[in-house]
Amino acid sequence: MPTGHIESQRRGGSLMGAERADWSAVDDYVTELLAPHDEALAAALQASEAAGLPAIQVSPPQGKLLYLLAKSIGARSILEFGTLGAYSTIWLGRALPEDGRLLTLEADPTYARVASENIARANLADVVDLRIGPALDELPTLDTEGTGPFDFTFIDADKENSPAYFAWALEHSRSGSLIVADNVVRDGTLADAESDDPKVRAQRQLHEMLAAETRVSATTIQTVGNKGYDGFALALVRQ
Ligand code: SAH
Ligand code: DHB
Ligand code: MG
Repeated sequence: MPTGHIESQRRGGSLMGAERADWSAVDDYVTELLAPHDEALAAALQASEAAGLPAIQVSPPQGKLLYLLAKSIGARSILEFGTLGAYSTIWLGRALPEDGRLLTLEADPTYARVASENIARANLADVVDLRIGPALDELPTLDTEGTGPFDFTFIDADKENSPAYFAWALEHSRSGSLIVADNVVRDGTLADAESDDPKVRAQRQLHEMLAAETRVSATTIQTVGNKGYDGFALALVRQ
């Protein structure tokens, strides 16, 4: 994706350009062979770009990874923090059985309108429940409704609140549920104990929670590609 390339350049000022070019070339190669876009995914990105949404969705190989993870645990109910234009939502929605459900939270009403159209175009309107509003404001409503438990949670909204979203997701999981958080490595700043960036500090807090929490077994995997250098945290709720 051209926008991903620009993002790489912006973030990667201190790295050799050739290295970044390799990451993108491999991402493109893997995408073409293993995670190609069909009409609905291509249309979702086109509509998102046309509406001026930032191109910060997961990459195609990462979307496929989310799909495979959800499939491999046999997820029937999925929770997502941060819908944007529903690109990751569509990948995840496709991992569900016919009677599966995906609840996704988006703070921005303009993004949500685009997402809703993209979800309908992907024939997932009956599967996806899109809630509009800051996630922390919506969660009490979900509690009132008795929503959950969720088999799979994808945390990808405002990064400062990832620890709070993890805590809520854990309370609404079952044994065997998987919780995945995006953008935890942040160009390697995760390892910087002195960082005063609230987004970095939140990822470090999330990792401290994962380390102390006896109900999960967790790891973090670093990623490179069209989206630059970042990574996912994965936490499996113990059986
Ligand atoms: N998961 C998407 C990308 C999400 S980008 C994908 O990979 O396709 C992060 C999204 O979180 C943005 O759309 C942003 O508007 C939303 N967001 C930011 N703060 C939020 C909040 N407090 N509650 C819910 N969503 C929020
Ligand atoms: C950015 C990337 C993301 O994956 C995300 O969820 C939010 C922001 C970014 O590159 O700014
Ligand atoms: Mg993300």
